[in-house]
Amino acid sequence: MIIKDAEFIKSAVDEASWPIDYYDEVMFCGRSNVGKSSFINMLVNRKNLARTSSNPGKTQTLNFFFINKSFYFVDVPGYGFAKVSKSVKATFGKMIEKYVKGRKNLKMVFLLVDFRHKPTEDDILMYEFLKYYNLNVTIIATKSDKVKNSERTKCKNTIKETLKLDSNDKFIVTSSEKREGFTEVLTLLDNIIEYKEELILDENDNNN
Ligand code: GTP
Ligand code: MG
Repeated sequence: MIIKDAEFIKSAVDEASWPIDYYDEVMFCGRSNVGKSSFINMLVNRKNLARTSSNPGKTQTLNFFFINKSFYFVDVPGYGFAKVSKSVKATFGKMIEKYVKGRKNLKMVFLLVDFRHKPTEDDILMYEFLKYYNLNVTIIATKSDKVKNSERTKCKNTIKETLKLDSNDKFIVTSSEKREGFTEVLTLLDNIIEYKEELILDENDNNN
């Protein structure tokens, strides 16, 4: 897949504001500051389509980006940021839970974890939560440019063991700075996204 077109559609909190065209969706979740918005920007090859910040807690709503006029990337607020108040945390949690539980067109969740660090309790909970809802999860290890080559295997194993990944979970090492992992992620998307045009063709076929 080549991403030729990426358009910010809307920020939404309530279910009532989520897109209702039900194109496939791919969600990006992970701790605050792990690099979710930067990763989206790398994939779409734009500097600031998704807003990034060195201060954690930048993204505060579900943000829908329409990709190749065929599917959505959904950027969500990060978890595990101590400075966010309890009530805001609870609102984020509910918002994401509601979205994940009921969204039939959610085809893949990218769970981003920092390649350098052992996943936190929050990461483990998020992983278990996604698996509980039978979602297709891919682990994206971020900021690989900050890890020495000699440390990579150790870092990989720490993440796999701490999250207790299933053998069929995909694991991709990425760097938004160095554009590592870019092709692998796009190939994966090719395999899971159903293009609406194809669906329309199929429907026509069925009618004939
Ligand atoms: P929230 O919206 O707060 O949840 O954060 P986020 O996960 O969207 O993180 P964001 O993309 O805003 O990035 C956080 C910080 O990490 C920024 O200072 C980025 O420049 C930096 N960053 C993101 N990806 C990489 C990477 O691959 N390598 C390096 N070295 N820095 C990165
Ligand atoms: Mg963000």
